[in-house]
Formats: sequence, structure tokens, C-alpha cells
Amino acid sequence: MIYYKTQEDIEHIRQSCLLVTKALAEVGKIIKPGMTGLEIDKVAEEFILDNNAKPGFKGYGGFPGTLCISPNTEVVHGIPNDKEFREDDIISVDCGSFLNGYFGDSAFTFAMNGVNDEVMDLLSTTYESLYKGIEVAVVGNRLGDIGYAIQQHNESKNYSVVRELVGHGIGKNLHEAPEVPNYGKRGRGAVIKSGLVIAIEPMINLGKKAVKHGNDGWTITTKDNTPSAHYEHTIAITDEGTDILSDHSFILDAVKNNPEIRYISVEK
Ligand code: CO
Repeated sequence: MIYYKTQEDIEHIRQSCLLVTKALAEVGKIIKPGMTGLEIDKVAEEFILDNNAKPGFKGYGGFPGTLCISPNTEVVHGIPNDKEFREDDIISVDCGSFLNGYFGDSAFTFAMNGVNDEVMDLLSTTYESLYKGIEVAVVGNRLGDIGYAIQQHNESKNYSVVRELVGHGIGKNLHEAPEVPNYGKRGRGAVIKSGLVIAIEPMINLGKKAVKHGNDGWTITTKDNTPSAHYEHTIAITDEGTDILSDHSFILDAVKNNPEIRYISVEK
């Protein structure tokens, strides 16, 4: 069952999402080769706690971290650990918060300075595809239109869309109906109605779409060990228009000002 949100709900979710993107910006300011996932996890957790919220993922199904940190061939749900980042790593960082009864959710893939242009193109294409999906996320369209737009953009570059993991409704629960696949057919799926709040999160592989599940019960990795990128926005769709609740401008500013990481140029 889909819980449609009031404008008041949406403002609460926005506040939670802004906390998430500001936490990700704190990560973006300091992330560099030699740091570890546990270190950035601590920074994000302290930021969220300092702002009177709770980490949204910690404890969810037993997940131990504030952040899901998924380097290189890891698609999503990587557990923060003490392995040092290398200078050619891409690091997908997914963050959730719980503030005043509402969840926020957003993700960003950071690229260290040594990442090559081929992988940078995967990142920018994935990021662009997120906006292609948002563009068609309007009242009266269908969920399949979102998936179609994301899939088309990535497959035009011969990248592949992970099927096992999808976006989701969000609000008082971290994961609500409906599922929001990053693939699909135009004109198929549920009709988008005013008050729908969803997280759209393309997970795109440089190689083939198949993934494998790690022994830790969480980490999802590409089966062919090619790199994978992941960006996520939480958006609200109403009769007034579509509103990106998880403003990434804080993250992009942080990335721009951090000489240790590469800026992702995106054509929206
Ligand atoms: Co999500």
C-alpha cells in the first residue's frame, strides 16, 4: 500500500533529507586516499547525532553502520571497515537519517583523483540518468516511465542496470511501497499520483548487470568485478510539480573544494 504524503509530511522528509546531504557533504570535504570507511562513517554519524537526528540505516535489519560504503566493484550495502581508500577508488556512500519521525535517504559516488576517464564517464552517466528519471517523475506518468528513462540513458553507453535492487517509497518508514526499478517500459507500472515521495537510485555497472551477494550478508558486488556507480535522490511529486528533497548542492560544493577528489560534471 502506498502512503501519499501531505505537504507537512513532505517538509519533514525534506528536513531529514537535508541532514543526509549535509552529512554526505561533511564526508565530501574530507574523503581522500588513506582514509577508511570507518572514519567517514564516524564523521557522518556524529553530524547526524549533533543535529538531533538518528542514523537511518544503523540497526536497520541489523546493519552496523551509519553509511553504506561500497567501493569500486561493490554495488551497494558495503559495511564500513578499516581498509584504506586508494587513489584510484570510487566510493559509493549511501546515507539515511531519521528526524522528527521521518526518514531521509540519499547517495553519492565519490571519485579519488586517480580515477580514469572511463570510470568517470560511468559516474557522470549514472548521475545524469538519475535526473532523466526525475524529469519524467510527474503526476500522471507511470513508474515504468522513470525506469525506462534511466535504463535508456545508461544502456546508450553500454552500461548495465542492476535488476535486484530498486528505489522505493519513503516517509515514516525507510522503505515503503512502491518499488521504483531503474529499468522498465514506458506507460507501464503504477500511475504516479500527487503526494508520492520516492527515492530514485540508479545502480549502474560498467560491465554486465549480474550481481553477487557477499558472505557478510550485506555487500552486493558486480559478478564480473567491473566498477559500479550509485546516486540517489529522494523526491516529492505533487500537482505543484516535482521537488528534489535531497539537495546535492552541499555535496557538489564539497567535492569542488576537495583537491583529493575528482569533480563529476553532470549535464542535467
Ligand atoms: Co534508498
